Parts: sequence; C-alpha cells; structure tokens
Amino acid sequence: MNRVARRVLPALRGALGLSLARARGVRRPYSMTYILTHRCNFRCAYCDIPDAAGFEMSTAQFQGAIDEFAAAGSSRASFSGGEVLLRDDAIAIVGHARRRGLFTSMNTNGWLVEERIAEIAEVLDMMVVSIDGPAEVHDLVRKRRRSYDRVLGAITAARARGIAVATITVISEQNRHVVPEVLDLAARHGFWAYFQPAYRDCFDHGAGLDPALDGPALRGLADELRRARDAGRPVAASPGYLDRLARGPSFGDCGACHAGRYFGTVMPDGTVVPCHLVSRDAVYPNGLEVGFARAFAEMPHPVSGPGCAISPYQETDLVFGLDPRAIGAAFTRMIHAP
Ligand SMILES: C[S@@+](CC[C@H](N)C(=O)[O-])C[C@H]1O[C@@H](n2cnc3c(N)ncnc32)[C@H](O)[C@@H]1O
Ligand code: SF4
Repeated sequence: MNRVARRVLPALRGALGLSLARARGVRRPYSMTYILTHRCNFRCAYCDIPDAAGFEMSTAQFQGAIDEFAAAGSSRASFSGGEVLLRDDAIAIVGHARRRGLFTSMNTNGWLVEERIAEIAEVLDMMVVSIDGPAEVHDLVRKRRRSYDRVLGAITAARARGIAVATITVISEQNRHVVPEVLDLAARHGFWAYFQPAYRDCFDHGAGLDPALDGPALRGLADELRRARDAGRPVAASPGYLDRLARGPSFGDCGACHAGRYFGTVMPDGTVVPCHLVSRDAVYPNGLEVGFARAFAEMPHPVSGPGCAISPYQETDLVFGLDPRAIGAAFTRMIHAP
C-alpha cells in the first residue's frame, strides 16, 4: 500500500465508525495516545513530566491495550512520553499498532531518532518533534547543548525516509518571538509547525499558563499565526485552533470537549484518562484492572473547565466536532508536506 493510502485509509475507516458512534451517542476510542514512559533524557524548562516517572506497563501490556482499543474501533495510535525512545521496546509497541492497521505517530525530542531511523521508518507514519526556536534558544529552553542539531538531524532523517513530520514549539517567556524563524525552517525542511503555550503543570490545567502568556500575549500569538497561515506559511494550526488560542487564557469548555468521548490517553501505569491535563482532577480507572475498553467507556468526563490550548488535543477535538476547516487541515497535513 502506498504511503498516502496508508495514512488516509485508517482515517476514512475511523470516520465511518465515528459517524455511527455519534448517531448512537456512544463513546468510541477512535484516537488513543499511549504514554509509554514519563522518564526522559531531558529536563526542559517548562516540563514537569519526568518528576512523575514510576511504574510502566510491559511490552505485552501495552500491546494488549492496543489490541483492545483496535477491537473497539481505534484508527489512530499516538505514542508520547517522557521520551518514548528511552524504552528499548518502543519500536515493538509502535509496530504492533501499525500491524493492527492503525495510523501511527510519535512525539519525540529527537535526540535518539537518527540512530534508530531505519527501524522507526518501518513502523511510523508521522513524527512530531519538539523545536523551541533557533539553535541558541532551543538549547537554552531544552537545557541541552546541541539538542537543536539533533532535532534537525531527526527531521532530515525522517523526511529522507518519507515519514511525515510536524513540530511543536512551546511558547513561554523565554521564546515568545521565535515564530518567524521556526516557520522559515519548516518551509525549508518540509514540515508543519504547531505552536502552543506553556502550561505551569503538565498534569493540571488548573495551575494555568506561564505567567508571561496573558490575554493580550495570546491574542498577539494567535494573530501572528493567522497572518502567517493566510500568507501560505506552513502553520499546522487550523483556523478553529487559532480562534480558541485568541480567547485564552480560558480557551473553551472542557465539558464540551471530545476528549474522553472519542479520544483518550493511556498513562504508563495503565490508567485511562481523557487527557493528561485533567489527570489530577478525578480518580480514573486502570485498564490493567478493569480492561482498557471498559476503562475508556467508564472514565469520568470533565463536567467543566477552561479548555486547553494543547495543539494535538484541540485539533482532534475540532475534527470530532466536525469543524470542516480542521478536517481539511488534518487531511492536508496527512497527505502532503508543505
Ligand atoms: C511531553 S512531550 C513528550 C515528547 C518528547 N519528550 C518531546 O519533548 O517532544 C510532548 C509535547 O508536550 C510539550 N510540553 C511539555 N511540557 C509542556 C507544558 N508545560 N506546556 C505545554 N506543552 C508542553 C513538549 O514540548 C512536546 O512538544
Ligand atoms: S518536554 Fe519532552 S523532552 Fe522535555 S522534559 Fe518534557 S518529556 Fe522530556
């Protein structure tokens, strides 16, 4: 099967299942994120995830979760961390999802990509790499010398193997002015660039954003990205995401979000949550104890909350809300590089 068909077919299969689920008013785990580990080889300025490192499910347990969700209608599996590639079995787990016919994507800091690119290319449809600005800014925020060089190496290696590439730039006080430089790089290397504001606590949206990102700063960022998008720059965000970003720091309504209805997240220990930003809000079921499909079906859904501005979650929410421009943007990103 060629690459475009491999990317589009799971989406079409999922769209059909989703229409049925919407019509029947039932939950469906269309798109699941598997957090393989909270461990990380980095300590980025804005990220508290490595502090949460603890019990991690085994290879077989993650593969079992993927099997259950595939049987319950999943079409897409994203893998994130911590740093996914710290696990020796990362490729075996991602490959398992691919063999089940799922579209696979992986978030990575890029450090370990080049040395494993041959095996990664066998199993991965889309790589999402973090880049926080030009070299000196990126290395400062990521607290690792030469990490920018490794990111560029990762992007180049992935593009050379035909893997779709997107980046996420987290905007904080340290790098508020890097949008033009990242977009120049995206145009040169052929990737789509997401931007999102830094949260104070990765597991709790209630703690708010980096204090430098007040309403005017968020509106300014949204306007800058809108102008760039209208000018044909490789901005990954759909117009709907930019509208939400401009509304911040309260971005929407968690009660209306499709997280926990049509997409969700499996934590390293097997807990199933709507998204990691609400993971401290309630007690969530663990798939190892009750089964993963059941954990998804029974997990509490947030009744209210300020929404969020995490790019992948919000774009997914807009797609499941049948926003035509978000669906169009998702297809564009899926089938061609900028
Ligand atoms: C948690 S990381 C995991 C994957 C990998 N370690 C990486 O850095 O890309 C996934 C994405 O979340 C972003 N992120 C981390 N902490 C964040 C925060 N406090 N607010 C917003 N985004 C954050 C990262 O920059 C990255 O793009
Ligand atoms: S953002 Fe990614 S690379 Fe940085 S500390 Fe968090 S998990 Fe690690």
